[in-house]
Amino acid sequence: MSGAPPEPERAWTVGTAPGIFPVVGHGITLVRRPLDFLKSLSAHGDLVEIRLGPRRAWLACHPELVHRILMDSRTFDKGGPQYERLRPLMGNGLVTCGHEGHRRQRRLIQPTFRPSRIADYATVMGEEAESTCRAWRSGTKVDVSAAMLALTTRVTSRVLLSDSLDAATVAEVRNCLAALVQGLFIRTVVPLGPLFRIPTPANRRYRRAFDRLHAIIDSVVDERRRGTPRDDLLGSLLEAEADRGGASGVTGREIHDQLITLLLTGVESTAMCLGSVFSLLPAHPEVERRVHAEADAVLTDGLRPGLRELPGLVHTRSVVMETLRVYPPGWLFTRTTTRETELAGLRLPGGATVLYSPYLLHHDPGSFADPDRFLPERWLPGQTAAAPNGAMLPFAAGSRKCIGDTFAMAEATLAVAAIARRWRLRPLPGHVEQPRPAATLGPRALEMICEPRRRVPAAGVSRDPNTTVAQAE
Ligand code: HEM
Repeated sequence: MSGAPPEPERAWTVGTAPGIFPVVGHGITLVRRPLDFLKSLSAHGDLVEIRLGPRRAWLACHPELVHRILMDSRTFDKGGPQYERLRPLMGNGLVTCGHEGHRRQRRLIQPTFRPSRIADYATVMGEEAESTCRAWRSGTKVDVSAAMLALTTRVTSRVLLSDSLDAATVAEVRNCLAALVQGLFIRTVVPLGPLFRIPTPANRRYRRAFDRLHAIIDSVVDERRRGTPRDDLLGSLLEAEADRGGASGVTGREIHDQLITLLLTGVESTAMCLGSVFSLLPAHPEVERRVHAEADAVLTDGLRPGLRELPGLVHTRSVVMETLRVYPPGWLFTRTTTRETELAGLRLPGGATVLYSPYLLHHDPGSFADPDRFLPERWLPGQTAAAPNGAMLPFAAGSRKCIGDTFAMAEATLAVAAIARRWRLRPLPGHVEQPRPAATLGPRALEMICEPRRRVPAAGVSRDPNTTVAQAE
């Protein structure tokens, strides 16, 4: 016992965000300028009431409050308009399931993300990153957003489903995702069901993408049931289903839900992160130079980047991490209270909607010096100033923390290095692509020009200085 008096409870402040419109609440502001709106909220309190359509909701602005929410997933359970919209899409899989039943699902999926498995996946990640940028041609325009989405779709489907998706289906999944993330966001911030049943072109696009994605998953599972067993996520789910005498409780419905869940979450967020990295690098030439030099030093000629190269890619990793801070792909999340509880001294009834925003937290000057500046060196080994609990949450925290965090960091780091070894990506003249918030945050139509790079010769290595890396291989 230290004998020290207990810390006094903080004097929390609770406020209401101004600018509530009838019916839509803050919905229009959240659609038109969500990032500015989020950043403005801390000025109104540590816990701020906002309106999602007519629905009252409380957004936790202080890292300590967010930490409390995430550490108590029994009281602050998955729910609120975001998860109400996600459930028809993902069913009751690992992302959307409630607290009860979550532990069983997490145990079922966790072996797929064991560190020893990530080692095997790193080879696939390196191969796919190489083949993505091998097809690019000097001086041509590349649709970086589409290329990153195609890359992460191929990696995720190869790793989880062992090549069960052909190239045409990968392209279809990519297009479905684009329609879904936009539709999901609008349905979250303006949760007015009847509005989305009107057969407008946008609603029809959403419905078509929704149906097509489910049909793709059904045919993948049917094909596997008829074919050879494989050692991948789908294989392990089918095995658990067959083990009816055991305690797994896995059904055909759950297999479908888990596959669609992991495909959607695995593909979209990492693609957004990669798009953001490439949109940020040209505006930070010194950072870009370090990433190029590191790729040259660590990725030797002809070698596909993989697990062995990861420890050497420290700058690249710090760039990925800082990108996740500045533009977290998962930028706004909802929860629902399962019982009456207290937050920041305010009594919340059971069924209240509570939100947290990694974007808001990551831009808090109380947690990060110069929060709006892109400074990857914050994350270099030895430099990391400990961010307070709840301040840096690109992958959330607590029992609902992202299961794919190590996977995503490896995939993004290897992809950035593989591309940086061959190409410098330049923005189109006069065009600045801003990250666009929808269900995820990131650039959605990023086009860039590929400029072949000259490798910076490592000390003692002689090489024709006019040979570009793209030509040399
Ligand atoms: C840069 C990439 C990624 C980011 C930024 C990210 C972010 C997140 C965040 C913030 C959550 C928590 C959501 C909440 O609190 O409501 C989450 C959960 C989750 N993520 Fe990720 N994620 C990424 C990549 C991945 C990948 C590659 C996979 C799988 C292949 C994945 C699978 C999941 C799953 C299954 C959950 C739910 C975990 C649970 O509730 O137990 N994520 N992710």
